[in-house]
Amino acid sequence: PEPGSFYDAVGGEETFRKLVARFYAEVAEDEVLRPLYPEQDLGPAEERLRLFLMQYWGGPHTYSDRRGHPRLRMRHMPFKIGPIERDAWLRAMRIAVDECGITEPHRTQLWNYLEMAAHSLMNSWD
Ligand code: HEM
Repeated sequence: PEPGSFYDAVGGEETFRKLVARFYAEVAEDEVLRPLYPEQDLGPAEERLRLFLMQYWGGPHTYSDRRGHPRLRMRHMPFKIGPIERDAWLRAMRIAVDECGITEPHRTQLWNYLEMAAHSLMNSWD
């Protein structure tokens, strides 16, 4: 990890584990989001999102070692992401961000990024 990174400041891998586990607990129960996930087991999807976010915030580069360049817009094209899907994703993520123990100012910084990213991955307007 980069010294002084956001990743270190918020508690490293353990914090990202909590964040993404909480998010996927919501996805598992969400009637909009759950059907979008092709695999029965959400574990692999949980790991990909966790590794991506760790890398993005200055942690280890395991995500790209395994998956290559993120290309998130392209990788989301198979799934319809309209306003309903985006809002469901952000609803689940809001709970996860609020409950994973990240404090201000990092919490707002993380949330602003996730909100921007969710808007940018939309590929449908209905
Ligand atoms: C993968 C849905 C937003 C990061 C996926 C997958 C789905 C999905 C269905 C496939 C699951 C899998 O990996 O097997 C959505 C929806 C979003 C959303 C409905 C609403 C806007 C985001 C955002 C980020 C993100 C904002 C990042 C900040 C990822 C990553 C993967 C992924 C890293 C795995 C890519 C890979 O390596 O294959 N998403 N996503 N997603 N998503 Fe999202």
